[in-house]
Amino acid sequence: MTLPDRGAFSRREYLKGLVAVGGTAALAACLDEESSVDIPTGDPAAVPERQHAWNAVLSGDNENIAPARHHVLLSLTLARDPTGDDRERFERALETLERAYEWSHEGLLFTVGYTPRYFERVGWNGLPEPTALTEFESPEFEDGDCQIHLASDHSQAVLAAEEALLGEIETINGVEVETDIGDLVDSRERLTGFVGPGLPAEHQDTPGVPDSEPIHEEAPFFMGFRSGFEESQASEDRVTIEDGPFAGGTTRHVESLSIDLRQWYEQDSQFQRVAKLFSHEHAAEGLVGEYGEKLDESNGLTAERIANTLEDARQHGVVGHAQKAARAREDGEPLLLRRDFNTTDDDRPGLHFLSVQREIEEFVRVREAMAGADIAEDSAVGSITNNGILQYLTVRRRGNYLLPPRELRAFPDP
Ligand code: HEM
Repeated sequence: MTLPDRGAFSRREYLKGLVAVGGTAALAACLDEESSVDIPTGDPAAVPERQHAWNAVLSGDNENIAPARHHVLLSLTLARDPTGDDRERFERALETLERAYEWSHEGLLFTVGYTPRYFERVGWNGLPEPTALTEFESPEFEDGDCQIHLASDHSQAVLAAEEALLGEIETINGVEVETDIGDLVDSRERLTGFVGPGLPAEHQDTPGVPDSEPIHEEAPFFMGFRSGFEESQASEDRVTIEDGPFAGGTTRHVESLSIDLRQWYEQDSQFQRVAKLFSHEHAAEGLVGEYGEKLDESNGLTAERIANTLEDARQHGVVGHAQKAARAREDGEPLLLRRDFNTTDDDRPGLHFLSVQREIEEFVRVREAMAGADIAEDSAVGSITNNGILQYLTVRRRGNYLLPPRELRAFPDP
């Protein structure tokens, strides 16, 4: 992939473009652009035992946690079964990243996850293979061994971490790269993206992003609304595995979606968009505002609004995405901790929906609630039309991962 043309983009767009391209040339261009940026270094001893413990070191307003702005999901296929020596090398390479950058959104956050294919190498079958979860999809499936999620407010940190792990650079943020796992990696695949107020609005020139209806300047996501309100997110405790060889870890599912934004913005009104994303009542009572600014730490889904999902479908011919998905809460508690982000991978707008949860089975249950096949059977809502946002989404890829606790994160062998 060629580097974006510096003259054609704003600084923020350029930096996002460099993350999408990746590699040492993109990193050099990024360091050049951000030469005045000073990123704090870190200390491995200060990194928590749970790889997924990010909330305390992310930023946020009110009660809500703001995600880091730049993301890379680096999937690696190993050239051979890792040995004890490889394990040690990988652990040291990961500690180098922790020394190079503070464990925070201003430095670098990362998690290392392993696939069922990896666990086959070590004879463990505790993680299910990804499968198609609805009748309307035929996704590709992750076929690598391990996937590293890199996240930071600084594009140079995610790019440099990737190159350091693969042995393409000698120093990272002033710290010497003593070891890497480049020789162990047969191939890499990258999924990239960004999230945060104003970032989607800058993509009006991406194919598939309509310019007739501008995306709200403050919206953090392509579909134009805030997401990830505190009360609709599982806590880090709730998603932590409690027993077995990976107690203290969690699981990750990544569902990569492309979004038909033309239809979303050009065919639907703001009222319809709110009804389809939240609920009919949210739209009728004006609870959301232009991009979600009227909502605070809750998405406004009371137990009653959730219980009324089928009734809404029958009465109003539409159900909200969040309203439907919330039916899967257990004792009022959400099961998923969503850490999803926008993407323009493959030159089209989309979302890498990433969530962590205690078991993959819980993701499957929530995804079934979101699919809402039961609602379509019992009301005038179609299997995709007016059934939340299903009509605008195409599932492209799925992957299941197990994220061990930090002490077992380097090529675990249960
Ligand atoms: C382009 C795709 C998607 C968009 C734009 C989107 C957007 C949203 C928005 C705006 C909300 C309401 C605000 C909030 O509670 O945070 C929400 C809630 C939610 N979404 Fe999505 N979402 C997408 C895909 C998915 C997928 C694939 C899942 C997988 C199951 C999912 C699961 C949920 C859940 C569990 C909730 C919270 C429900 C609750 O309150 O308990 N979303 N989403």
